[in-house]
Amino acid sequence: MNSPLDTICQTKHYFNDSFRSDILEGLQSNPKKLSSKYFYDKTGDRLFQQIMAMPEYYLTNCELDIFKNKTEAIIKTITYSNEPFDLIELGAGDAMKSTYLLKSLVDKGVDFTYMPIDISGNILSVLNEKLSKEIPTLDILSLEGEYFNMLDKATYLSKRRKIVLFLGGNIGNMEVDEAYHFCHEVKRKLNPGDLFFIGFDLKKNPSTILAAYNDALGITAEFNLNLLHRINRELDADFNVKNFQHYQTYDPISGACRSYLVSLTKQNVNIGHDIIKFEENELIDMEISQKFSESDIKRMAKESGFHILNEIKDSKNWFVDSIWQIV
Ligand code: AVI
Repeated sequence: MNSPLDTICQTKHYFNDSFRSDILEGLQSNPKKLSSKYFYDKTGDRLFQQIMAMPEYYLTNCELDIFKNKTEAIIKTITYSNEPFDLIELGAGDAMKSTYLLKSLVDKGVDFTYMPIDISGNILSVLNEKLSKEIPTLDILSLEGEYFNMLDKATYLSKRRKIVLFLGGNIGNMEVDEAYHFCHEVKRKLNPGDLFFIGFDLKKNPSTILAAYNDALGITAEFNLNLLHRINRELDADFNVKNFQHYQTYDPISGACRSYLVSLTKQNVNIGHDIIKFEENELIDMEISQKFSESDIKRMAKESGFHILNEIKDSKNWFVDSIWQIV
């Protein structure tokens, strides 16, 4: 039988292998593609913190507004049955928003365990330290890894009612068909009565959306380019990062906000023993940040087997936290 340490080492080893194969597969396909889930190394975590503090990036403030000012409405919806529960947060990051909810739940003496899941071990240690200071009586169990692997682990460990939080508009970082599949999979892993609490960035003035991802200081550009630095460092590659430029688009009809890196020259890049050829102006598809209408959300809830219990919006009506229950 594996010791917990063996399991952790195997998970890390597996993760490093899948990083290499995912990167090579993406760069060998046409069009070239890299997954934005790999943006979050130590520098990526720091850049994302800077993005969240940028004046153009409204998403964080909108959802913060909900968690700060509508905590009572959230608590009323999620504690409707008065049963103890486990609060599982997918992609918890620094839990900036959920900390407001955690504090209120602890103050009210609600019986729950907080289970943050994140792909970044670095951010989870920061979070553990922060929460042990700010809410010393909080019962916390952190899980490092991919959403579904860790959700399986969380549902195996949890014997109580479950509430899965998926905040920040993270659902938008999936293509729409993947998002449907994702919600369906979450539903399969939960039981009747469990809740799925998802943050959606709503369609709005296209200029507001484009500006959030095309900031004046170029932090989002750096955030995208950082993945090339990470590949250089971790996969023995030689990207000349100066030869790539960030390019952002937003299509207000489909709601797809997409980032690309453009190769500024014809060039070859070595990744270990593999060679990747770029034409001048060839693109790497880096990230989608999908925006939703209210009817998009209704359709997604219904088709993935949930009904909407409550929807809580920020004061500008730019962002919604939609609380779903298994039908
Ligand atoms: C994490 N995620 C919801 C962010 C977003 O808005 O798509 C990531 C991000 N990419 C560029 N800026 C922020």
